Amino acid sequence: MMDLSRRNLLKGAGLLAGALPFQSTLTASSAQSADSSAAFEFENWERLRDEFDLDYSWRNFAGFLLTSHPRVVEQDIQRHRAGLNNNPANYLFKGWGYSEETREKAGEFFGVNAGQVALTDSTTMGLATLYNGISIKPGQEVLSTEHEHYSSQTSLRYRAEREGFKLNTIRLYEEPKDVSTAEVLKRIKQHITNKTRVLALTWVHSGSSVKLPIPAIGELVAELNVGRNENDRILYCVDGVHGFGVENLNFDEMGCDFFVAGTHKWMFGPRGTGIICSRKLDLAFIDPTIPPFNLNNDPAFGPMMTPGGFHTFEHRWALRKAFEFHLALGKDNVESRIHFLNTYLKNRLQEIRGVELVTPISTELSSGFTFFRVTKHSPEAVTTIMHERKIIVSPADRDAGPVVRMAPGVLNSTEEIDEAVAVLQAIA
Ligand SMILES: Cc1ncc(COP(=O)(O)O)c(C=O)c1O
Repeated sequence: MMDLSRRNLLKGAGLLAGALPFQSTLTASSAQSADSSAAFEFENWERLRDEFDLDYSWRNFAGFLLTSHPRVVEQDIQRHRAGLNNNPANYLFKGWGYSEETREKAGEFFGVNAGQVALTDSTTMGLATLYNGISIKPGQEVLSTEHEHYSSQTSLRYRAEREGFKLNTIRLYEEPKDVSTAEVLKRIKQHITNKTRVLALTWVHSGSSVKLPIPAIGELVAELNVGRNENDRILYCVDGVHGFGVENLNFDEMGCDFFVAGTHKWMFGPRGTGIICSRKLDLAFIDPTIPPFNLNNDPAFGPMMTPGGFHTFEHRWALRKAFEFHLALGKDNVESRIHFLNTYLKNRLQEIRGVELVTPISTELSSGFTFFRVTKHSPEAVTTIMHERKIIVSPADRDAGPVVRMAPGVLNSTEEIDEAVAVLQAIA
């Protein structure tokens, strides 16, 4: 736990605010901030829907984009907001401990030490912080793929243009349905050279729902790193946003060096929240970009790599509740429910002539989205038709070409999927 002693708080007050009269007020801030919320207990999937203010007259298959958050998270945001509105300066310094609690909960959720977790405002902020600061020396190269999201591609491109290193971008499979672990490993191995410093991959591809075999790639990277010295070792980085809060995997099982995710999608966290997680507890392979507001001068990765400046603190501090919420749901329970719903949808789509399933059937190689095409209609037209019937799906056109995206998550049911399938049956 961070040392919230009076001495440290005063040091922090001096660092951040100079002349503000903290000394006289620091001890008086706790009265309105006690966490009185009842812990959430999971009963069943139907009942879970009551924990959210979602408008269920819509069939919402777009939780992957930006999520509604559950009551426990909402209440915690309100609690912190009230504290900040009541006495911003006092509550701010009290809140430094809340950031630490958020990092501890993230660590519990992901099986790591709080010091390995930095807090960000989004996946994009995490990726930019990572790819801007990761150690790449002159002559070294980056290997990445066509399956990355714009935010990874652009962060890497900015750095490559600035420093002139080679950014090698490959495909790991031609069509999503052809993906196999052996092929992915073969292609990565083929393209890693002794100059490759960074391997930048995405866990679940947001153009197809292909899920990469992240642990198997971790083993390959570990083998290839044998004999390389620290300055040349391949640093394996994962954009994990669409697996985090879906797949039941801990950080250590992945074998990566850095992991980035937003927590305002599948995790049900407050908007404007995310994490970066590091294998190392120190800054062995990375430098900060944005000055951290690290009041205790803690040299660990988490406090050093958490961008400083003032944030929407009530959101960041309430993120802790989203991790607790997921732990109460059960990570294995969430994973099996989401895979069950997606497999159900895939099977139903395959019954329809005129609909082409794009996402692999295998739950080993796909995750919480299901992508498809309707031969007679563009993805935009399908989205509009569905929208008119109060069903939210979305079009995408990335590495797998034009597709319709549907993401059945824990707030959806098979009945809702049947409704969407009935519309597709009628128009296909
Ligand atoms: C794979 C992937 N990475 C990064 C992002 C950006 O996420 P954020 O909005 O949290 O910055 C997205 C957006 O959905 C995404 O699909």
